[in-house]
Amino acid sequence: MYKVTKRIMEGKPITPAQNSSNLSTSSESDEQVLQIWGGQPLKGHVKISGAKNSALVLMAGSLLCPDDCRLRNVPGLADVARMRQILAAVGVKLQQNGDVLDINASNLIDAQAPYELVSQLRASFFIIGPLLARLGFAKVPLPGGCAIGARPVELHVRGLQALGAEVHIDHGTVHAYVKGPNRRLKGAKIYLDYPSVGATETLMMAATLAEGETVIENAAQEPEVADLANFCRAMGANIQGAGTNTIVISGVPRLHAVDYSIIPDRIEAGTFLVAGAITHSEISLSPVIPDHLTAVIAKLKTIGATIIAESPDILRIVPGQTHSATDIETLPYPGFPTDMQAQFMALLTLSNGDSLIKETVFENRLRHVAELNRMGADIRVKGNVAIVRGVARLSGAPVVATDLRASAALVLAGLAADGVTTISSLHHLDRGYEQLEVKLQKLGANLRRVKEGTEPMIAEAPVNPVRSGLNC
Ligand code: UD1
Repeated sequence: MYKVTKRIMEGKPITPAQNSSNLSTSSESDEQVLQIWGGQPLKGHVKISGAKNSALVLMAGSLLCPDDCRLRNVPGLADVARMRQILAAVGVKLQQNGDVLDINASNLIDAQAPYELVSQLRASFFIIGPLLARLGFAKVPLPGGCAIGARPVELHVRGLQALGAEVHIDHGTVHAYVKGPNRRLKGAKIYLDYPSVGATETLMMAATLAEGETVIENAAQEPEVADLANFCRAMGANIQGAGTNTIVISGVPRLHAVDYSIIPDRIEAGTFLVAGAITHSEISLSPVIPDHLTAVIAKLKTIGATIIAESPDILRIVPGQTHSATDIETLPYPGFPTDMQAQFMALLTLSNGDSLIKETVFENRLRHVAELNRMGADIRVKGNVAIVRGVARLSGAPVVATDLRASAALVLAGLAADGVTTISSLHHLDRGYEQLEVKLQKLGANLRRVKEGTEPMIAEAPVNPVRSGLNC
């Protein structure tokens, strides 16, 4: 699209690993590298964290509510820590205890979220919708581009204008305000030129407190959009159709307190399924919502893996003896997710035959190709298409993470490669994967996070069991 431009769950015990105070800061992450000794088979069960993209937008959505909001299953991620800072900057009181986040937005102040933070976290721009709905005005810096593309916000802006907001952009900041005595937005019919996740979420939040009915057509159908709608409904909003391409919102004057648990992260779950496949290991994961992983599971089955639903929220991957090539085109949900493209590319580098991967959602999301090629992959890029020719083996190498999902792809490649892979620029990884190396270590992977420049220890040269059975 780069052309246009409740579940209420029981609280869980708090473990130190879940406490976000353990998070590395961005500069710490950049002084560290991940060393991976490839070739270890994985085994066991992995716990999937709450969904990053839900957590971020639900935190923004809590601005709609003047009472206490409790979010459960909040992942300990650098992006979530940044979002906490953004909310604090506009007067929100927050308290995090393990994976439980208490938010009180009763006293919002007329302040602007700092550009340094908004520029590092595009999702923070989404606060414009709820701020405008609550206060009748909002000013949020334009997020700017990021590692994977330009990422404009004109769909958000046009939609807010349709809801009656005056919007102007001055010195890199979007100023939005509603005229009139009660400063309330007015329901409208909005057609999105593209089913943008962020625009759908911004407008749904804004419409929640508007006067009258809003219909969003060609809305994004991602599970995180439905999770946001469920969260808003749990606060008293009237929203129908979220998760389909038409969402109808009847505005209400006020929302109330809520205690809500975030859905499991389908992208983290998909990444672990690929970890099982690429290392030819049987592993299980939970909690997951298998319906959210339909496209990913279908592709894994196509290449020869078996996915077993052991219970409604536990999946087990049984890898194939060998995996075959397949073609992938990234699309809005329920199509194949762009957020799983890099991880699948890593897997297909070791599959039999040629695969074609077309990235249609973001314009600059193939930067991991050069890094995978450094590890012995055979990938050529033409425009937004990557042609992946399966090779017999990958070899560990120093590589640089270029964005969040690219870093996951390099970790996966490193798990399957011969020798040591050293990944730098870890701040990308820490944005979106909670305790990834700890979870992988528990599955038996051989990896550690160390200060940059630390020599890899000489590991006993293991026979690479991961490779046996591949197309050598
Ligand atoms: C969200 C997810 C991100 C995921 C993406 C697509 C969050 C925090 N992030 O990002 O992980 O990869 O959905 O599934 O939820 N666009 C425009 N104009 C707009 C808005 C978007 O041209 O006003 C373009 C973008 O540049 C991009 C495409 O639409 O090329 C998709 O973007 P969008 O669906 O909005 O993604 P995000 O909400 O930013």
